[in-house]
Amino acid sequence: MSPEEAARRTAETIAGKAGFAPRTALILGSGLSGLADRIEGAVEIAYADLEGFPRPSVSGHAGRLVLGRIGGTEVAVMAGRSHFYEHGRSDAMRPALAALAALGVETLFLTNAAGSLHEEMPPGSLMQIVDHIGFFGVNPLIGETSDGRFVGMTEAYDRQLAMCLQGEAQAEGIELHQGVYLWVTGPSFETPAEIRAAHALGADAVGMSTVPEVILARYLGMKVAAFSVITNLAAGMTGRELSHDETKELAPQGGRKLEALLARHFAKVPA
Ligand code: HPA
Repeated sequence: MSPEEAARRTAETIAGKAGFAPRTALILGSGLSGLADRIEGAVEIAYADLEGFPRPSVSGHAGRLVLGRIGGTEVAVMAGRSHFYEHGRSDAMRPALAALAALGVETLFLTNAAGSLHEEMPPGSLMQIVDHIGFFGVNPLIGETSDGRFVGMTEAYDRQLAMCLQGEAQAEGIELHQGVYLWVTGPSFETPAEIRAAHALGADAVGMSTVPEVILARYLGMKVAAFSVITNLAAGMTGRELSHDETKELAPQGGRKLEALLARHFAKVPA
């Protein structure tokens, strides 16, 4: 079976189980799966029942696709993602994203937990990703043979959608920072020297996901909006060692802001 045919079949399975085909999808990061529990009329499908969907192996990452409504807008929410550090493949999310595209998803909201490079953007902050640095990782389109692989990334994060979300954050009284996300493969955290280098390169936050998914989503023709929930100040900024437990503990703080922002957005702009 060709990858396109596989994506189409998985999309049919999803639409069959949900009874509808949303035009908006979300990917939830570490400790942010609370959003999936706020979906109205939720239909849950385990990734294990969906061909091509990842089998996450990270604590804090469930593996389920939840379909339903947020603020009246039909959404497909991926609670759980695949990371490069789990297997060394940056295209592991491609079959799932291709299935969502085949389902008719036009806009993808990505969320992650990230370390901040600015003391003025402390743990609990929310950052809108306006651009990224990903050239340390492996591009997920390596091996693709169509000319579509030469994806333009000048405006990877949809500017109009970003502006709209900024206005909504303001109206909701949520401080929404804007910044550049630098992708590192992980799974070890960075060294202080790496963080100084990231700062010199123009990064505002650092994390282990999202960038391959943004490249794949753009390749598949989706619009993208992305958010980092800041769980810690980056390595070397506090004198303390970083831990995954800290990441999981602090994600819900920023997660609540993200929930409020997205609830407002989806109530106002039915997709
Ligand atoms: N570095 C990389 N990934 C992360 C961090 C960090 O400091 N915090 C949460 N995810």
